[in-house]
Amino acid sequence: ARPVRPGRYEVTQRVAKAEIVPGTRTEVWGYGGTFPGPTFELRRGSAATIAVRNELPVPTSTHLHGGVNPPDSDGYPTDLVVPPGHHAHHGGHPGEVLHQGVKDYHYPVDQRAATLWYHDHRMDFTAPQVWRGLAGFALVRDAEEDALPLPGGERELPLLICDRAFEEDGSFRYPAAHDGAYMEGVEGDVILVNGAPWPVAEVSATRHRLRLLNASNARRYRLRLAPGGRFTQIGSDSGLLAAPVAHEEIPISPGERYDVVVDFSAYPVGSAVTLVDALSEGPVMRFVVARRAADDSAVPARLSRPPDRPPAVATRRFDFRRTEDVWTINGHPYRPGVPLARPRLGTAEVWRLTSDFHHPVHVHLAHFQVLARNGKPPAATDAGWKDTVDVRPYEVVDVLARFDGHRGRYMLHCHNLEHEDMAMMADFEVI
Ligand code: C2O
Ligand code: CU
Ligand code: CU
Repeated sequence: ARPVRPGRYEVTQRVAKAEIVPGTRTEVWGYGGTFPGPTFELRRGSAATIAVRNELPVPTSTHLHGGVNPPDSDGYPTDLVVPPGHHAHHGGHPGEVLHQGVKDYHYPVDQRAATLWYHDHRMDFTAPQVWRGLAGFALVRDAEEDALPLPGGERELPLLICDRAFEEDGSFRYPAAHDGAYMEGVEGDVILVNGAPWPVAEVSATRHRLRLLNASNARRYRLRLAPGGRFTQIGSDSGLLAAPVAHEEIPISPGERYDVVVDFSAYPVGSAVTLVDALSEGPVMRFVVARRAADDSAVPARLSRPPDRPPAVATRRFDFRRTEDVWTINGHPYRPGVPLARPRLGTAEVWRLTSDFHHPVHVHLAHFQVLARNGKPPAATDAGWKDTVDVRPYEVVDVLARFDGHRGRYMLHCHNLEHEDMAMMADFEVI
């Protein structure tokens, strides 16, 4: 997407038709009428405003996932943009704020280069509204990253991966809340990359940078390359790693991003390389190595100087659990406006995350590093500063979270979007 003037983007959420399954038309709710929405290019040090106009039949709230923003531009679940003419006479949520038709979200973009994304965050309806298409990328770039010889231009591919189910006529199928499958989160049987089912990308036999995002409501993936090969991870949710890490497999839970380089010169010209999901044993997408080409890119052994880990001034515990048929944090279903913690700005804390199920735990407006899983060192794929971590069944995950953005209202929640809508969220306040 291009700014309408420097630092200002305008995007309209609207109902549109797209051909996702060949030969059928799917009604999508899209930013700009597309699914995924436009990619916003942000630059560290250049504040940006994104004006979101809502022409959908429902209220929305736009959250920039991974952004370090003032809380009034966070896309809080009850801070809603309502379609023109919409009135809230039938009892909204306490503290609800309604913007008529449009809201300007202000982003200072005072943060490291990273792969961010944006999506709807409406109270109780995030899952069905994202399922209909309300999500897209926002990329932050900076001088530190510009100085590196990483693959760029058409050799940089942001890949928004999600699953969907379809009716015969091509419309999205989303189960009713009483459906049993709903409890664990909603999964579809078709995997889409950037809105297309099992797409094929022609690549040259050179290094490519893949910005992997799991934008699924509930599905987790273990990504591999077939017939074999490695991902060189260069970045995590919140920016470049200090040094690259090689992986044969990348587990990615909803909300997480992995910034990786794949060297297609390792495969014969004419061959196909499939990105597969080892969990569902199915393909995600295919690359066809179409031709040789010169490659002056490289993955340097030193990538960046991420912020160091400050000492923790407090330890807190957040337990993600199903209690009496609702999904809770520390025993409570979501209570907007009731903070569970009050960390101080400029400090860091150890947060111990525990769970009874797979809960991809996400913290807004702040970043963390994984310190330990079940008291043991984290996995190689836990490297770097992150904003989302998959807490597996009965696991104890310790993270060090730093609060160096803005004072005010924050939240943490499960990024399984059905769990989120079933109240697995909590507020905290940075003071
Ligand atoms: Cu991507 Cu509050 O979420
Ligand atoms: Cu977020
Ligand atoms: Cu969950």
